[in-house]
Order: sequence, then structure tokens, then C-alpha cells
Amino acid sequence: MTKLLAQPNRTQPRVNRGATPVSAHAATALSADGVNNTWLHMLPLLPYGYAALEPAIDRQSLKLHHSVHHKAYVKQLNQALLEYPALQRKSAQWLLLNLELIPTEIRQKIKNSAGGHVNHSLFWQAMSPQLSDHATGGVDPTGQLADAIAREFSSLDFFKTLFTNTAVSVFGSGWVWLVRTQEDDGRLELITTEGHDNPMAQGYYPLLLCDVWEHAYYLQYKNSRREYLEQWWHVVNWREVERRYAEAKHRAAALPQVSKAPKLLTQLWRHAA
Ligand SMILES: [Fe+2]
Repeated sequence: MTKLLAQPNRTQPRVNRGATPVSAHAATALSADGVNNTWLHMLPLLPYGYAALEPAIDRQSLKLHHSVHHKAYVKQLNQALLEYPALQRKSAQWLLLNLELIPTEIRQKIKNSAGGHVNHSLFWQAMSPQLSDHATGGVDPTGQLADAIAREFSSLDFFKTLFTNTAVSVFGSGWVWLVRTQEDDGRLELITTEGHDNPMAQGYYPLLLCDVWEHAYYLQYKNSRREYLEQWWHVVNWREVERRYAEAKHRAAALPQVSKAPKLLTQLWRHAA
């Protein structure tokens, strides 16, 4: 078996003072055109320092999450692809959305590792320091996103409550998402996924996501996932969510068409209301 090449040390965070904190490696992981220009897959740089999200997420937790857990998914993805050169230039997102084209012997490994890589790359961008001169998060959504949340969920506060309660209710390891559906007049929905599944595989375009694996919060909040969620809202990067909402109609239409959508949490709530 070919020996895995050593990866450059990319774990040191870099402060990005731009308005859109997207590192090159995150862009590669999330490439919608399916191309990975930099075999091997790389751990994306954080768009802020490890202590930048304190007190919501402390330095030790963020460093462990990024430089150990996310890094492990990247390493596992590269290892799984070692003997499959035809797949090595594919982006992690492409691999995740085309699992039926992946050889069965590595399909589950690709699903887990590419999912972990894509989801965490999205997650870092979904957060931003609140109290700094380059803060982009921590304030309420504005514009069309704010209108859509108010239309779909009655109010921002109710949306946050519903999102938090949904996150707390996830059994085991998973993610909770605000997504847009594929239709031209697509709706906002709340969904959860198990493991590192990603809603794009079901035709939903992610706008906001929260990692509710224990490794995301246990060091700081022990088993209180609700407290983690309540603090996490302070570092949500609403400007990034607005950016994704603005591109969502176009991007969602390009996702796999899903003829039979699962029952959505939001639909259950609407019917109960
Ligand atoms: Fe995580």
C-alpha cells in the first residue's frame, strides 16, 4: 500500500479580517463543481484564532475540535483514496454527493470522512467572533433572510428556540441544520442528520448548521448540550448565513433531485401548530 504523504502543518489558525471568512482549503472541500485542485485534501484554516469564540467556545475546545477531530477526518479521507487516483481530484463535496459512484469497499469510509470534512468546513464558516473589530456574527439576521425566518417561523426567537430544542433532542452524534428546499420558491426547513450525513444528499441546501457531537462541547459544557447551544447563538455568523441564503436558490437547484423527501421536523411543527 502506498504510504500516505505527510501533510503540511496547517493547524495554526489565521485571523482573516475579510468580510467573508472562507479559506482556500474550505473552498476546495466545498467545491460545487466537484474539482479538488490540491490532492491531498487539506485541513482548512480557521478564519479566526482558537480563542476568538470565547467565552461561547473556549480555546481548548476549538483547538481540539479543529486540529484533532476535523484533521482526523481529512486524514481518513486521504487514506481511503490512496489507491483510487480517479477519485483523488474530486472535491469532498462531490464525493459525498456521488456515493453511488464510489467503490463499495471504500464507500462507507468516504461517507464518514468526506461528510466530516465537508460539515466541519461549513461549521467553521458558520461562526464568527462577536467582540472584535472584525466581528461579523453575533447580531441578528437582516434583509431577505430575516424576512424568510419571520415568515417561516413566526419570529427569530421562536426559530432559535425550535433549533435549540431540535439540537438537544438529537440522539447520539449528529448535526442540526437550517436548509432551503429545491423549489423555485423554496422554503426554509429544520432538519437533523445522523453521524456526518449532509442534507445536500437529499436536495437541501445548508444555510446554518450546528455540530452536536459530544466532541464539540463536552470539554467545556460536559453533558449540557442545551447550554452549549444557548452560548453558540452568540457566535453565529449571520452574515455568512445571509450569503448562503442569497445563493441558495441557484445552488439548491444543482443538488441531486430527491423525489421522495423525508418528513421534515418543520412540517411536523407546522401541522401541530
Ligand atoms: Fe465536530
